[in-house]
Parts: sequence; structure tokens; C-alpha cells
Amino acid sequence: GKCVAILTSGGDSQGMNAALRALVRMAIFHRARVFLIYEGYHGLVTGGDCIRETSWYDVSHIMGKGGTVIGTARCKEFRERDGRRKAALNLVKRGITKLVVIGGDGSLTGANIFREEWSGLLDELCTLGDIDEQEQAVCSHLNIVGLVGSIDNDMCGTDMTLGADSALHRILEAVDAITSTASSHQRSFVLEVMGRHCGYLALVSALACMADWCLIPESPPTDGWEEKMCCQLSQSRKAGRRMNLIIVAEGAVDRHSKPITSQYVKGVIEKELGHDTRITVLGHVQRGGATSAYDRVIGCRVGAEAAIAVLEADSTTEPVLVGLQGNKVVRSPLMECVRKTQAVSSAMKAGDFKNALAMRAGSFVR
Ligand code: F6P
Repeated sequence: GKCVAILTSGGDSQGMNAALRALVRMAIFHRARVFLIYEGYHGLVTGGDCIRETSWYDVSHIMGKGGTVIGTARCKEFRERDGRRKAALNLVKRGITKLVVIGGDGSLTGANIFREEWSGLLDELCTLGDIDEQEQAVCSHLNIVGLVGSIDNDMCGTDMTLGADSALHRILEAVDAITSTASSHQRSFVLEVMGRHCGYLALVSALACMADWCLIPESPPTDGWEEKMCCQLSQSRKAGRRMNLIIVAEGAVDRHSKPITSQYVKGVIEKELGHDTRITVLGHVQRGGATSAYDRVIGCRVGAEAAIAVLEADSTTEPVLVGLQGNKVVRSPLMECVRKTQAVSSAMKAGDFKNALAMRAGSFVR
């Protein structure tokens, strides 16, 4: 029978468990044997007890849980060829030729490299005497399917990554809590949200909670923005608003690619307006807690499709990413999604923000 392995990698995110459940059950429904790899790529490299066959009921009651029940890690060993050779050996010894990776752009880039190197790795294992020619022949092709689990919503190939919606819920809950204390004291609050180099969470939460100002990496403010921001804040106070809220993406930069920190924004408001100002860095709270209904549902949808995609794949099939486009679950070439995502990063690093934003358009509000 067909053997499928599943791992979650990189930063955890809500919705990973929903996808995992659907994947396991859809694959078992199609009579495949399913293995769970614990602790991400670290487990794949380590093997042993980190790779365990699973059953239908092992994944009961996990749909709404945040995080990932099979663990995740940011793994150094898998970045080295030696680590990837160990990983290949662990799969071949179990007859696994189908791998589903749920993770962010870094994890999916790693999966793509693994797939590209696969036949070379098997040659090396054969030369070393770790596998025999029959094992090499049986496992000659590795099929890879990727699902994007990340709160950042920073990957091309899907309009929404698993976890981004739940993280937005966490942010809005925090804003509701901050609003009551901020308006009681007539304070300004600078709220820093996650997203690495992507401003999605900051932009969408700012829209959803009517923040006064928002700073994101894809659209660095023009020089002199501090004055405009202060003008906006004081106008709203004059109009009767008892508080102000500024949302800063953790990756926010100015036109000269210099980071804009929450501390800097606070300093500007205090100096220019004399507002009593506080900073809240939401941090990992955004990645925790229950999974939103939306993330549960898209987790089920992309998970089920990923199982079908990986089982249908044969020796001619290139790796695919299963994502959402226009509310439809679609398969796209993984390599192309990774390349586009890297192009966005390069454009941002080069200060070409217009292009970066255009390329990211799929996941931003238009
Ligand atoms: O990629 C998800 C993310 O939460 C980013 O938003 C953030 O920059 C990073 O991971 C934090 O990483 P760690 O959990 O390793 O501190």
C-alpha cells in the first residue's frame, strides 16, 4: 500500500491540527498507511520514535486546538545535506515515498530542496551501503505536497495561510481589552503585532479595529510621516476620541529600510503631543489559543485535498502547494510558489516596495 508521512514545521499556527486530522482521515479512507513525524524536520532527521504510524482515532478531538499536536521545531540539521540524507534514510526504511509538510515559507522551501535532491541522496545512501538497490528502486521517487501553516499570511500560492485568521481574532480581543483601559485614562497605545516581514496582520487588524495609524513593511511611510501621524492623532482627540491606537507590524521599516520600532513611535507621540503613551507587544499570544471557525474549515478543506493530491501523485508529478484562491482549494506548483515568495522578499530587501506589494496582492485586502 501507499505510505504517507505528515509533519508540521516552523512556527506553529492554529489550523495545523484541523489540516492534520483531515489529511490523516482522508488518506486512511483511501487505504493508505499514514505516519506522523513528531517535532518537524528534527523528527524526520532523528527517526526512531519520532516517526509513528497513526490511526483514524489518534486524531480525534484535535480540530479546535491551537498549535500542533505532533510538535514542531526550527531545525538546523535539515538545512545541511547530511541531515537531509539521514531524513531520506528514515523514509526509505519505512517505505514512505509521500510526504506532506505543513509549515511556513522556510519549511516549504526546505521540502522543495529535499525533493530536488532525493535521487542524489538515495545514490549516496546506496553507495554507503545504508540501503540496497531494491529499496532504492522502490522509493525512487518522492512526492511532496505543501500546506501553508503560518500566522503571517506571507506565502504566495494561497490567499490565506492557516492560522492568520485565528491570530487576527487574538489581536482584536487584545484591542478590545486595551480600548477600555486606554479610553479610561485617555492614553495612546502602540500595539506591536507579529508577521515577520509581512504586514498582513497589522494592516487587516488596523482596518478591523479602526486604528488611527498603521505601519507595515510593504508600504514604508514617506519622510515626515511622524508629523502627519501626530496631526491625525490630535485631530481625532479634538473630535472627542478619548484614546488613540497605532498598530506597528514587527517588520515595519521606513523609506530607508530602517526599522520603525514601537519605542520610536511612542517617543514621537510623547514628545510631539504629550500623550501618556503605552506599548503592548502582543508576541506569541497571537499564535496561541483556540482555532477560529474559518481556520478549522479551511484546515479541513486543504488537508483533505492534500491527501488526495499526494496519493494521486506518481513519478512524473512535481511537488504541489495546496492553497486557497478565491475561496477555491487549488493545487499550484510548489517551486513556483517558493520562487514568487522569495521574489517578494528580495524586492522588499532592495527597497522595491511597490513590486513587493503587487506580488503579494493575493493575500492583501484590495
Ligand atoms: O512566522 C511566525 C512568527 O510568529 C512570526 O510572526 C515571528 O516573527 C516569528 O514567528 C517568531 O518566531 P519564534 O516563535 O521562533 O520566536
